[in-house]
Amino acid sequence: MSETGRGSDIRPRRLRTSPAMRRLVAQTSVEPRHLVLPVFVADGIDAPRPISSMPGVVQHTLDSLRAAADEAVAAGVGGLMLFGVPRPEDKDATGSGADDPDGILNRALRALRDDLGDSTVVMADTCLDEFTDHGHCGVLDDHGRVDNDASVERYVSMAVAQAQAGAHLLGPSGMMDGQVGAIRAGLDDAGLHDTGILAYTAKYASAFYGPFREAVGSTLQGDRRTYQQDTANRGEAMRELELDLAEGADIVMVKPAMSYLDIVRDVANVVDVPVAAYQISGEYAMITAAAERGWIDRDAAIVESVTSIRRAGASIVLTYWATELATRLL
Ligand code: PBG
Repeated sequence: MSETGRGSDIRPRRLRTSPAMRRLVAQTSVEPRHLVLPVFVADGIDAPRPISSMPGVVQHTLDSLRAAADEAVAAGVGGLMLFGVPRPEDKDATGSGADDPDGILNRALRALRDDLGDSTVVMADTCLDEFTDHGHCGVLDDHGRVDNDASVERYVSMAVAQAQAGAHLLGPSGMMDGQVGAIRAGLDDAGLHDTGILAYTAKYASAFYGPFREAVGSTLQGDRRTYQQDTANRGEAMRELELDLAEGADIVMVKPAMSYLDIVRDVANVVDVPVAAYQISGEYAMITAAAERGWIDRDAAIVESVTSIRRAGASIVLTYWATELATRLL
């Protein structure tokens, strides 16, 4: 050090000397408003049902959902993302529970808007996979393939039902071509101009969705590789991004977060709409499982993982730890 001479003794460690100093110079923050809590609400259960691969996360009843939502809002989270879990016997080939005003998801949206009004942002997953008996995100053609345009038609109907039930933002997660534009047009035709679209722009076919499939009682056989993106592809996310923006996406999302932080950064570098990223079920499960074994420090790992997603460029982070983390940050 001294070889460089007086006045040029440059030591980056000076800015790391105390918690106060580190706080002063931190370049990324996580605030409650950045966090969105994904929640599952199930039909036909009378008590919350634990999800074994996501310890601490449950399928809610309508009542326990309302309580969890109140708690999240009190903690200051930015919003809630709802997933519906119909009774197995209510699933069918076209996912008719999805756009039924009395379907579980639409009932839950109405209940939450009644309770919460505009005090938070209520979001809905706009996808058929929870509602179809085959578990795919769309409807199938005669050859058993996912039919893009027929699926998009179903999404439009679902979107209008969700908006009418009170969702502020819709999250089309099915990765069908043209879904954002069609939903925008459908909402506008129904006079629902204020309902926004949080587009799942770059959603990758990921092994880390495993626990979610249990969470929603998925019946999927096979995989989603003909519609979700290939892990190997980076530039393709930019193509999806251009399309979603042109079709009217209000917010764009990358999912999963952890293995796709480069994509989050690529997107954040070029857009002027908010960027979201989804810390998915497998990310939650891995940290939870390792912490249960005493192999990592749970609380520190949660903060580090969410901070890294913010640092990569996401202004909004969907995380199953939203309420907990927001409470810690208050
Ligand atoms: C599909 C959907 C998935 C998730 C949210 N919406 C999974 C899938 O594509 O199978 C995953 C969320 C998570 O893993 O936490 N509608």
